[in-house]
Amino acid sequence: MTGNELREAYLQFFAEKKGHLRLPSFSLIPQDDPTLLLIGAGMAPLKPFFTGKMKPPRTRVTTSQRCVRTGDIENVGRTARHQTYFEMLGNFSFGDYFKGEAIPWAWEFLTEVVELPKDKLWVTVYPDDDEAIEIWKSQPGFPQDHVVKLDDNFWEIGPGPCGPDSEIYIDLGPERGCGKPTCGVGCDCDRYLEIWNLVFTQYDRQEDGSYKDLAHKNIDTGCGLERLASVVQGKKTNFETDLLYPIIEYASKVSGVKYGEDEAKDVSLKVIADHARSMAIMIMDGILPSNEGRGYVLRRILRRAIRHGRMLGITGKFLEGAVDAVVEIYKDASDFGELVAKHDYIKKVISIEEDRFAATLNQGMDLLTKEIDELKGAGKKALPGEIGFRLYDTFGFPWELTEEILHEQGLDLDKDGFDKAMEEQRQRARAARAANIRVQVPDLSGIDVSKLAVDPEAKESKVVAIWKDGKLVDEIHDGEEAGIILEKTPFYAEGGGQVGDEGYLLSELGRIHATNAKKLPDGTVYHISYVEEGQLKVGDTVKIEVDQTKKLASARNHTATHLLQAALKRVVGDQVNQAGSSVTPERLRFDFTNFEPVSAQQLADVEELVNNEILKGIDVEITHMSLDEAKKAGAMALFSEKYGDVVRVVKVPGFSMELCAGSHVKNIGQIGAFKIVAETGVASGVRRIEALTGKAALDYMNAKAAKLAEAAQKLKASEDDVPAAIDKLLEEKKAADAQLAEVAEMREKADAKKLLASVEDIAGVPVACGVAHAGSMDELREVADLSASKLDGGVVVLACVNDGKVSLVVKAAKDAVKKGVHAGKVIKEAAAIVGGGGGGRPDMAQAGGKNPDALPKAFEKAVEVLKTQLG
Ligand code: ALA
Repeated sequence: MTGNELREAYLQFFAEKKGHLRLPSFSLIPQDDPTLLLIGAGMAPLKPFFTGKMKPPRTRVTTSQRCVRTGDIENVGRTARHQTYFEMLGNFSFGDYFKGEAIPWAWEFLTEVVELPKDKLWVTVYPDDDEAIEIWKSQPGFPQDHVVKLDDNFWEIGPGPCGPDSEIYIDLGPERGCGKPTCGVGCDCDRYLEIWNLVFTQYDRQEDGSYKDLAHKNIDTGCGLERLASVVQGKKTNFETDLLYPIIEYASKVSGVKYGEDEAKDVSLKVIADHARSMAIMIMDGILPSNEGRGYVLRRILRRAIRHGRMLGITGKFLEGAVDAVVEIYKDASDFGELVAKHDYIKKVISIEEDRFAATLNQGMDLLTKEIDELKGAGKKALPGEIGFRLYDTFGFPWELTEEILHEQGLDLDKDGFDKAMEEQRQRARAARAANIRVQVPDLSGIDVSKLAVDPEAKESKVVAIWKDGKLVDEIHDGEEAGIILEKTPFYAEGGGQVGDEGYLLSELGRIHATNAKKLPDGTVYHISYVEEGQLKVGDTVKIEVDQTKKLASARNHTATHLLQAALKRVVGDQVNQAGSSVTPERLRFDFTNFEPVSAQQLADVEELVNNEILKGIDVEITHMSLDEAKKAGAMALFSEKYGDVVRVVKVPGFSMELCAGSHVKNIGQIGAFKIVAETGVASGVRRIEALTGKAALDYMNAKAAKLAEAAQKLKASEDDVPAAIDKLLEEKKAADAQLAEVAEMREKADAKKLLASVEDIAGVPVACGVAHAGSMDELREVADLSASKLDGGVVVLACVNDGKVSLVVKAAKDAVKKGVHAGKVIKEAAAIVGGGGGGRPDMAQAGGKNPDALPKAFEKAVEVLKTQLG
């Protein structure tokens, strides 16, 4: 049986004999599944049917699913069965049949349709799955001792449907084995080959790693087509089956290397065979080489294949021929019609990528070889990350390829260093983009602009010019930023205060993100662009997709700006004139002449006037006329813009009329809502209003409403009662503050009284020392003043303690000073006792300290000093 016949036999068996719906293979690109980069199992595209998120077209389905897995790419060619591309035959039950059918049908297919010898088949089961063991043992002719329990018989791949499984193996004979006494099913050697996995899908693994029961029990099976073919065709490896060998033959022919003579060369032949299928089918499914995501996987596979070509001594281009061989293998197979239809396209994509890598591969290899020699010479193990990055950035070596070459030499790549260099490069690129350096406009005088046109209806156009880093170029590639001129463009170019349109330019071989459109002085529109995937050439035809959501948002804000200006004139006065404006999809900003701020009432009136107008749902009229006619009709001409003879007039009948080239809604009802969010001054005599429209206005109001709800919750009041509740709180606060002040005053008085009771007489001068309840130095001074005023011609030494810190004040009356008292000197010595310092004038001094316990000693010291001063 050929590989194609095997596939057909499988699908027919399940479709015709077992009632399954036969579906074509799904694309390699997962649909709505962010957990996967590429489809890597038959069940992957069917996940929603297992989880119940979607209803399957039938509860039994069979497919031969194309799959790509690159986790073990370094093993490809080194073992009999590792591949990056393979087909997985599968039969699936979504809550329909279970083990009791899946097992007998697998047995029937293998022993009756494919006629594998029963005594060579073995199965493994999950250790506690006695049910599966019983079912296996009851199959006709099943060798009863060929069941093995294995702990790792549980199948899962990231989050999603999973469960215990039962695997079917074939014994290829002791001559293929390792000969160890422990050799048996599950051994790593080549003797027991797993050909089919039956998964009893009962769980849904969550993102957090936990398992949820699925609503019903399901079956997911996977039988590797290439493996089955190797068994049926009696080949030692998958590579010798008719699904791969023709590509090996091709590579062998171009390289002159015979298969089977040199192990290392065989690896390269097998790598080319495997990778050629992967790349062809990935491109068939719409993936283009790039430095990100799926495109990067493709690029890596492609470049790895090219390197193996070099290792076989192939110096020229060879991958297109490999694609021919791939197409030849599948041309009559069902599900591969697209491969034939896109044959030339696939070759074109591959040819471009091969040319690009060929241009740098040799230089890169020279650099790497030199570095490897140096590392070895110096007894070092890891290639510095910057060199790895240079190989990637300048010579196009996917880092995994560099790492693999290093591994072959017993060395490693400093991946952290590589990542760091990559991040630095990203930051540089971001900065350059922000400064618009990448798309500096070159001399375009050689370009014929007479045929260029802005056409709002244009859906397709030819590429007229491309430039990069300030120079005209013929082509650009993924990851590059460029300026692009199209023959026709529907993009609105930045101007009249409105930002340029954004969108996509899609060519046969590239996906280009046009992030902004600008205008040259002569009116030529150019697109600031980033090549996300593939490439673009001058002369290519591109499909044009303008981001209509953003464009409409800009149009809303632009028409609303006209309404705002008209409303301001009515509410605020005729002195209002436009002094600048900025319209983006997010918001509008309008600057105008007016000498004073617009009052809250005026703003409310303006807002209401505009919203009332929006509710009328009037069509916007756009006409072209001569400037004179427009002026006569009363259109507002703004700025000193140089309008041509014929001008574009934008009119909201009965409300506004302006000359304007910008984007507008068809009907002002589309604006939806208008909300002023700020009114500020920008220069003398110039005010600025910022406003939102449509969904942005609603979002803004919702955010405010959420804040109000939060405030109501905190105040434990209804939303309507929030202002009253705040008033109540404020009143309560006022009362509390007054009470506090009263208490403080009372305390001050009490302190002063206490102090006066302890007055001591030193040489005719009354002296009072004590501790007060003051919260700060200021309060302490107040108590000191109060006490001193009552102490005729005396001295007050006062302290307070807060948070373990001491504050000291000494206050002396004029008479006391005359008699020789110096407050500053007193405090200096007293403060030293409490571990602090300070000083001051003869009549008033203050200080701090750290040791409240020493206060009594400090007071003693003060009295002692005063005695000396007065003595
Ligand atoms: N989903 C199972 C596998 O890929 C069948 O092995």
